[in-house]
Amino acid sequence: MFSRVKIKELLANYTIGQEVTVMGWVRTFRNNQFIALNDGSVLTNLQVVVDFENTDPELLKKITTGAAIKAVGEVIASQGKGQAIEVKARLVEVLGVCDPEVYPLQPKKHSLEFLREIAHLRFRTNTFSAVFRVRHHLAMAIHQFFHEKGFVYMHSPIVTGSDAEGAGEMFRVTTLPLDKLPKTESGDIDFKKDFFGKSTNLTVSGQLEAELAALALSEVYTFGPTFRAENSNTSRHLAEFWMIEPEVAFADLKDNMDLAEGLLKYCLNHVMEFCKEDLEFLETRLLEEEKQKPQNERSDMALRDKLRFCLSNPFQRLTYTEAIDILKNSTPNKKGKFQYPIEAWGADLQSEHERYLVEKHFGKPVILTDYPKQIKAFYMRLNEDNNTVRAMDILFPGIGEIVGGSQREERLDVLMARMEEMHIPLEEMQWFLDTRRFGTCPHAGFGLGFERLVLFVTGMTNIRDVIPFPRFPGSAEF
Ligand code: 4AD
Ligand code: MG
Repeated sequence: MFSRVKIKELLANYTIGQEVTVMGWVRTFRNNQFIALNDGSVLTNLQVVVDFENTDPELLKKITTGAAIKAVGEVIASQGKGQAIEVKARLVEVLGVCDPEVYPLQPKKHSLEFLREIAHLRFRTNTFSAVFRVRHHLAMAIHQFFHEKGFVYMHSPIVTGSDAEGAGEMFRVTTLPLDKLPKTESGDIDFKKDFFGKSTNLTVSGQLEAELAALALSEVYTFGPTFRAENSNTSRHLAEFWMIEPEVAFADLKDNMDLAEGLLKYCLNHVMEFCKEDLEFLETRLLEEEKQKPQNERSDMALRDKLRFCLSNPFQRLTYTEAIDILKNSTPNKKGKFQYPIEAWGADLQSEHERYLVEKHFGKPVILTDYPKQIKAFYMRLNEDNNTVRAMDILFPGIGEIVGGSQREERLDVLMARMEEMHIPLEEMQWFLDTRRFGTCPHAGFGLGFERLVLFVTGMTNIRDVIPFPRFPGSAEF
């Protein structure tokens, strides 16, 4: 009963006169005759023509927007414009009705905010089906890129007993009864009674575990969900997001930058090749959206031109110190236009500074390296100046930071000194330090925020619209 041809396959490969069975959801039904049918395999709807004079009126009434149907009929050349073929149905069966009186999705434009509230249904719109097909292709491109290079895909744990970034922004995992927490003699919560016999959290990053694997398998990557309980209510932050973290032994910062730039370009190339129709649609969507904005807030390039531009230009590489000089002397800084004025070396860069460098000063993706050690994590390799670390951030137009990484501190004594300085409990991290005790070697890695990549490629403007069910402060719906 369910053998069918997908609309994508049919449109790509058909013979006039062949009989086909198609199934999908009705987008519109015009003149009791023309069904625009979509099965999600492709953006384009298939036109199914109903012989309404010879069809039961009760059945016709059930063909409404949102209904699931099966149609069997002959492939014919289309009379109408806009499509090469259509299916002349000899049989239509309604698999699932959809009451148009209560169905929230009408065949009209809905705002992205409204669709976010009905995220369980938004897959059925052109915009979201396109976004999630592109998201899929990006994920496949990432696996393909690393697989072709001989990396091992490593599954890092989701529940962890360690805090990789040393930041207090984790979600606790516990089965202890919240209304009567067991206490130790000194009055603290007794985590020995908890499920794992210790305090545990959802991971913020798979990096530390990836380092352990890299120091044996030499080239690994993780690609999994990560969780941050930071209270960032922005269009660039999620509390649950997916991160790609490669870790490479016998590699330095230059190798790391080359790998990251190579990965990003591979992904852009891949979607340009495999998501043509969806990207064209998303480009038009973005143009329409930007018409509502004042001229100076619109992008100066169409979506696909922007992707092509990033593909064909080397990313600009410079040090944090050089960037600070540029920012200090920039017009917005001198005119007091930055919300956080750049006064001295050592300042953490805000997104307004990152965007100035990328969008105004260089006009292309930028890789900043060698940040002050004070504003970066403990595991980054200390430079000879004792002041900066071998960090790198990749900044993208409209996005800001898309990648964060570094060469790792492989020297046991330097690493332990840094950890002490930063009050990281050494006792709990012996397993990590063992890599530096037993056959340590130079190595490097980075984290690519998957949703930020999807955001960039699709031209969507809010990160909540590129993950199926976004989690952010105050919201964990569905
Ligand atoms: O810069 P971050 O915090 O780096 C790490 O977690 C390192 N352990 C990575 C590594 O070296 N293996 O995060 C990496 C990237 C950011 O550049 C950003 O793209 C993304 O993860 N990211 C977020 N994406 C969405 N929502 C958030 N709250 C994010 N926080 C970071
Ligand atoms: Mg970062």
